[in-house]
Amino acid sequence: VTPSHCAIERTLGMIKPDCVRNKHVDEIRKIILAQGFSFVKEKDTKLDVASAKSFYQEHNGKEFFPSLIEFMTSGPVHPMVLEGEGAIKKWRALMGPTDSNKARITAPDSIRAAFGTDNQMNCVHGSDAPESAAREISFFFGDDKQGSWSYLSI
Ligand code: PPS
Repeated sequence: VTPSHCAIERTLGMIKPDCVRNKHVDEIRKIILAQGFSFVKEKDTKLDVASAKSFYQEHNGKEFFPSLIEFMTSGPVHPMVLEGEGAIKKWRALMGPTDSNKARITAPDSIRAAFGTDNQMNCVHGSDAPESAAREISFFFGDDKQGSWSYLSI
């Protein structure tokens, strides 16, 4: 439940290659809309290796990094700028925990529980803090310098 005093935030959500490949994008968009988020930007794109390494730079050096980069470059992704009250935490809650198998136990209504496989093929990404949200939104969509981004009509 989102407290009524939460600020309006923007976060970067991304549907990962496993979920795009399995044609779950429309269904996930409907779930996001039903939870009250507004779509500010979205697109279909594909990460090349250099872009994926840059996007996930904080994980460079971790054991799973090469596998993460291989997976994230294995097919198209669908990044989205989502807006709403407390959007950063709210989107992370809707995604569920990183490991989809854990999600099926601790967050059975989450997107990862429904559509994910494990902790790599977990269907969706979400920014974890205001700073990463700003960086990740800018990574895919540039900056809303004039405050001119408007809601997409859906
Ligand atoms: S960490 O180390 O706690 O910060 O990592 P975590 O937040 O759990 O995961 C960061 C992203 O890496 C992906 N991940 C993995 N990929 C492949 N193999 C393994 N073992 C693995 N563990 C984590 C995970 O899906 C996270 O992706 P994002 O897009 O950030 O959710």
